[in-house]
Amino acid sequence: MFRWPPWVARMWSLVVLVLSLGQLAGSFYVPSVGPQYFTQGQSVPLYVNKVTSDQTPLPYAYYDLEFVCRPDQLKRVWLNLGEVLRGDRITESNYQLTAGENQTCEVLCTKVIQPDDALQAKELIKKNYQAEWIVDNLPGATTYRVRDHSVKTYEPGFPLGFYNKFTDVAYLHNHVALHILYEPVPDTQHPGTPSRMSIVGFEVYPLSVQNNQVGCPNLTVESPPRQPIGNVVDREIAVTYSYSVTWVQDTTVSWRNRWDRYLSMGYTSVHWYSIVNSVFVSILLAGIVAVIMLRVLNRDLAMYSEEDLREDQLETIGWKLLHGDVFRPPSLGGLLAPLLGNGVQLLFMAGTTTLLAALGILSPSYRGGLLSVALVLYVLMGITSGYWSARMYKVWRGTAWLKNALITGFLVPGIFFIAVAGVNLFIWSSNSSSAIPFGTFFVLSATWFGISAPLVVLGAFFGNRQETISHPVRTNQIPRQIPPQPWYLRAPISLFITGAVPFGVIFVEMFFMLKSIWQDKYYYMFGFMVLVGLILIITVIEITVVIIYFQLCSENHRWWWRSFIFGGSSAIFIFLYSMFYFFTRLSVTHFVPALAFTVYSLLAAFAYFLCFGSVAFFSTYWFIRKIFQAVKLD
Ligand SMILES: *[C@@H]1O[C@H](CO)[C@@H](O)[C@H](O)[C@H]1NC(C)=O
Ligand SMILES: *[C@@H]1O[C@H](CO)[C@@H](O)[C@H](O)[C@H]1NC(C)=O
Repeated sequence: MFRWPPWVARMWSLVVLVLSLGQLAGSFYVPSVGPQYFTQGQSVPLYVNKVTSDQTPLPYAYYDLEFVCRPDQLKRVWLNLGEVLRGDRITESNYQLTAGENQTCEVLCTKVIQPDDALQAKELIKKNYQAEWIVDNLPGATTYRVRDHSVKTYEPGFPLGFYNKFTDVAYLHNHVALHILYEPVPDTQHPGTPSRMSIVGFEVYPLSVQNNQVGCPNLTVESPPRQPIGNVVDREIAVTYSYSVTWVQDTTVSWRNRWDRYLSMGYTSVHWYSIVNSVFVSILLAGIVAVIMLRVLNRDLAMYSEEDLREDQLETIGWKLLHGDVFRPPSLGGLLAPLLGNGVQLLFMAGTTTLLAALGILSPSYRGGLLSVALVLYVLMGITSGYWSARMYKVWRGTAWLKNALITGFLVPGIFFIAVAGVNLFIWSSNSSSAIPFGTFFVLSATWFGISAPLVVLGAFFGNRQETISHPVRTNQIPRQIPPQPWYLRAPISLFITGAVPFGVIFVEMFFMLKSIWQDKYYYMFGFMVLVGLILIITVIEITVVIIYFQLCSENHRWWWRSFIFGGSSAIFIFLYSMFYFFTRLSVTHFVPALAFTVYSLLAAFAYFLCFGSVAFFSTYWFIRKIFQAVKLD
């Protein structure tokens, strides 16, 4: 057998270790914790990030656009893993800002735009692409006034241009008026030094002006002629980019709550409506479960001991006849155990991330933080994955625990990995910044092989050493015949019920999540998300337990796989709803963004399926062990 020379293995482990540690450390990189003070006259860097659209899911790096002014030397900013995966590409720009100094008109450059690039500009403007610029970690915002014009709110980003769809002409925003809101911070220790300030707001007012010679908009003219782009296809055009800067003192906001304007969008009543709706569904189901439990624990037990069962009572006590079969290992248990392990892993990851976010630890000012933390947690939770997979594998009398651990560590992550890599092959070709760079891809694989997979095996090792979970009844040699089932317990109907009810609990919240993921809006209602998540878990457990109980009553003892599949069945609805969102809210005309959206939605639905399938599975397992313990047969 071929063996690696030992130095190859040693080098490889070293590479993996360094990369993985670097990634772990980098993922927790937080840009700046306290306020940054600028003294009067100090230069303030302006960074450009990316352009995004609410109509199509492909972002582009701002400096990858051929029609904008670029500095000669691009100075990239170091990004954390979450930012890279989100498609952020932050680069220092050549806009010269000076703290506290107004600039009325500065010319950035005159750019000669080739016909092809002008066409690209028109395409992006038509798709409503918004540019994200950053000053002092604040994204440049378009300002809105809602509710009797008194409350100012920010929407991050500003449009690259605007499009007149009647004349089919796109106009390029080549002038920006930057308003920097600041809060003066007196330096009490050193009186007499130049005044200091901290930046509390960054507003961008873009303008399209055709004024190639002078370079700046003639603001005395009522409506200056605008700069069209992408209409003349046969020759290049020269466009002058310019900007003005106004420093405005704003004492209504302080540095601590400067993000509030980005976050106060006032949809709260909708969230509450969704929660009331969800609680209602959940309580209804809880009632059904309570009735069942009461029957099981009181009336049924009493009747069973009387031993003169009437035929019509069999319907509710049928499940007791299954004592010799109910814990019979499922077919394909070697597949179910790894899926359960991965479900537990995803659940712990999602739960912890949401909790951290709800506690305000992952605020939007920590760009990319949510994704970085989620990834690190996913890797660390590999240990729970291996553990639960091994325990269930042992219950089903599996013997090759290591093989099971390897399947757990590689099957589901492998599916995710191959799907993401496949989509990226296409995204690379489209030049979008959401394509995962090769280096990042390498780091991700190294983390998977180097940390995640060993943790799964470690977890499986511990899980395998635990006692087998005990069952209150013994399994017979010969499987019992399953009688014909009533129509309402057929698989498609059960699937529909167990899928539709939990989906009804979450679809309102899901709309906001889709919006924040695909349209790059800040999602900040994590408190609501925790509430809805808890209600969802309760609902999934209740509906699955009810359906499986009815199924046991009609003497069908095949419940292992069913509880898993029923629990996760809302995934179908979630995927369909994502596609509905795709067709109604986005306007994607190209293949690559459509493919990316579909594949990522499928993966999200699959992750949901694993999570909630496992929740339902373990709850049903617990429930069945309890009811069979209660009857104490023989
Ligand atoms: C800059 O312009 C704003 C708005 O016109 C004005 O309030 C402010 O005093 C100006 N600042 C300086 C330093 O001139
Ligand atoms: C700006 O417009 C006014 C009014 O049309 C005109 O008098 C002035 O010369 C223009 N200034 C420049 C710099 O073009």
